Amino acid sequence: RPQGDGTLTFQAIDPVPRVVDDMTVPRGYDWTPIIRWGDPLFEDSPEFDLENQTRESQEKQFGYNSDYLNVIVDDEEGTTGYLVNNHEYTNENIMFSPEYIASNPEDVVGTAIAAHGLSIVDLERTGAGEPWSYVVGGRRNRRITGFTPFAVDGPAAGSDLLKTVEDPEGMTVLGTLNNCAGGTTPWGTVLSGEENFDQYFVGTAGVEEQERVGISPGPTSRRWDLVHPRFNLNNEDYENEANRFGWIVEIDPDDPTSTPVKHTALGRFKHEAGTVHIARTGHAVVYSGDDQTDEYIYKFVSRRVYREGDKANNMKLLSEGTLYVARFEGNSPAGEIDGSGDVPSDGAFDGAGTWVPLVRNNRSLVPGFTVEEVLVNTRLAADTVGATKMDRPEDVEPSPTSGKIYVALTNNSKRSPDYVDEANPVAVPDGGNRDGHVIEITEQRDDHTSTRFNWSILLLAGDPSTSETAYFSGFPKDQVSPISCPDNLAFDSKGTLWISTDGQPGKIGYSDALHKVTLEGEDRGRVEQFLAVPADAETSGPVIHDLDDSVFVAVQHPGEGGEWGAHTSYFPDFAPGGGLKGDLVAVPRPAVVQVYLDVLGDS
Ligand code: FEO
Ligand code: CA
Ligand code: CA
Ligand code: CA
Repeated sequence: RPQGDGTLTFQAIDPVPRVVDDMTVPRGYDWTPIIRWGDPLFEDSPEFDLENQTRESQEKQFGYNSDYLNVIVDDEEGTTGYLVNNHEYTNENIMFSPEYIASNPEDVVGTAIAAHGLSIVDLERTGAGEPWSYVVGGRRNRRITGFTPFAVDGPAAGSDLLKTVEDPEGMTVLGTLNNCAGGTTPWGTVLSGEENFDQYFVGTAGVEEQERVGISPGPTSRRWDLVHPRFNLNNEDYENEANRFGWIVEIDPDDPTSTPVKHTALGRFKHEAGTVHIARTGHAVVYSGDDQTDEYIYKFVSRRVYREGDKANNMKLLSEGTLYVARFEGNSPAGEIDGSGDVPSDGAFDGAGTWVPLVRNNRSLVPGFTVEEVLVNTRLAADTVGATKMDRPEDVEPSPTSGKIYVALTNNSKRSPDYVDEANPVAVPDGGNRDGHVIEITEQRDDHTSTRFNWSILLLAGDPSTSETAYFSGFPKDQVSPISCPDNLAFDSKGTLWISTDGQPGKIGYSDALHKVTLEGEDRGRVEQFLAVPADAETSGPVIHDLDDSVFVAVQHPGEGGEWGAHTSYFPDFAPGGGLKGDLVAVPRPAVVQVYLDVLGDS
């Protein structure tokens, strides 16, 4: 086949059994890590040293558990660029030895908080199509962590609901946490979703607002509150600290001195991501899922309009606008949607829907809620307007070529035949919606500011050889790669969809994967597996540079199921066939990986 022709041609790989601790890529491709947890970012960064991990060292090194990723090339020459990467959470049990945890508890907490957040890292290479290296001391290199000051903006900035003893104005928050997926805006900034923030806080019993986002009383697994009292909401000085997390944050990667922002106008929930589409009217539209069982899908439409090249204007677009939540209506006879996943008699799982407004500019549209209450306790507000409970909305991404919006619904073990609907039609005994599904949304008249939309299900995930419910828009089931737990979505230059997974091992027994999914023509619904990640890892942040025959993924939580000294993965420094390379440290290290055409043909 042609080498380096910019088509990213490949033959689908076979699914990989979950215990295989290797990156598996198609024949003719090779892979290398670009950067790993602990790699030094600055001229004065210490080298990674397992037995000397502190807040100070981690603040100058690449963070842990890589999720959202973008790789941006500076110019046509294609020899410089940068990457942006989220660091969602930490796995202390495989980051630190038990002895280190016992003897350095404050360093463990400091390291863990500093290993959260984001990294921005300059890249260089010798020519287009070549693999990238990262630049120590690059101009844009930056770590944003759980300690970095953020400005709060939007209608809830300065609200009493956001004030603490350290921030009596409710305008500055220390840190960002659990940054899952994200998006790059047309004006060059990065949006990052603060997802499962509940896990860091010791809650107060009987507080509805805390319960609704999953914050529970009693000790957390990380015990950060023992070092930093702000993580205990029973401390009256910090009863609002958790309200300061759960937002979409915006970061300007081009200016390492800029203050990142938390945008309250986009609501507070377990934001998986935030992805922007500029509507024909010029308004910026941000789509975001709330990733928990039976939660909702949201969109935000800016009040002001986008102006090409006017970054100062565009960086205010997310400060004011209308926040909507989605209601889905099916169009098939209700009795036909029974949880079996059988295609209804009209031939499709499809229908219409409404974006129900919650806040318009500075006004609440939800009776009984002030605007600040809607934005801080968004789930409670959305509960009152008949929003549709979805099967864990992960990534929500508008296609840059068609404008259609794709929603990854990763799974829902609670879904039962008692409350299936056409948009969430799978509820099998003992599994609910075990493998997840993907919905395609078309805004009415292709106007992304519209309050009405049409939708249809692109695929019901599963291993077709064992699943009764797997469905691929009618594409023959015996010709697809098995797929489960869709999470992140990406598009190549032609508008083809790529789906990475998080949870295949526990559902269909195969390692998490990256799949290409055809959307148009007679192959619509065809799933072809491109790669598999090492043992216990999730595939995150896919970036498809098909014109460069390159794919990038963030390998998150390799070896998560193991323990210190009994690791299930030694990614990415293992030697071929297992074991370790030389004297490299014996722990798995989350990393950003590039997959590229092996023009030498030695892979
Ligand atoms: Fe962090 Fe919803 O995955
Ligand atoms: Ca239908
Ligand atoms: Ca995710
Ligand atoms: Ca996930």
